[in-house]
Amino acid sequence: MADAPLPQRTLVLVKPDGVRRGHVGEVLRRIEAKGYTLVAVELRHASTELLTEHYAEHAGKPFVGALVDFMRSGPVLAAVVEGHRVIEGFRSLAGATDPTVAAPGTIRGDLARDWGTKLIENIVHGSDGEESAAREIGLWFPAL
Ligand code: TYD
Ligand code: MG
Repeated sequence: MADAPLPQRTLVLVKPDGVRRGHVGEVLRRIEAKGYTLVAVELRHASTELLTEHYAEHAGKPFVGALVDFMRSGPVLAAVVEGHRVIEGFRSLAGATDPTVAAPGTIRGDLARDWGTKLIENIVHGSDGEESAAREIGLWFPAL
């Protein structure tokens, strides 16, 4: 018999702009409608320490300070989502980083825009690979 497909996990965040604008339900709805499974969901205020670790790959880049400040501007919905190829699948649901050019039909394309602020506000985060997913899930949900 063929091996069952390996379940994969990703870390999804609804960022403070998404929470403030009332898009938590819509983001979770799209994840569930696609057929992925919610493993853990938690609303929380993230610390500077956690966010600096979370965005470690961007350390030293000009926008990282503003990014951490933005991520601390309100509560964040953190979720672990499971499914075969969910890392790539959620990135596809999220759409391009720049919401102005993110395709309509994606979370960012439908729900986000450029407000003229220096920092890009784009509603969601999704891990970008297996290594970052494992690292980010360990940071946000150490008990998993
Ligand atoms: P990045 O990991 O490159 O994008 P993604 O969220 O699509 O994986 O960047 C992290 C976040 O930083 C991004 O969602 C928005 C913000 N950002 C900026 O504000 N300016 C920038 O030039 C970049 C690259 C990112
Ligand atoms: Mg990224």
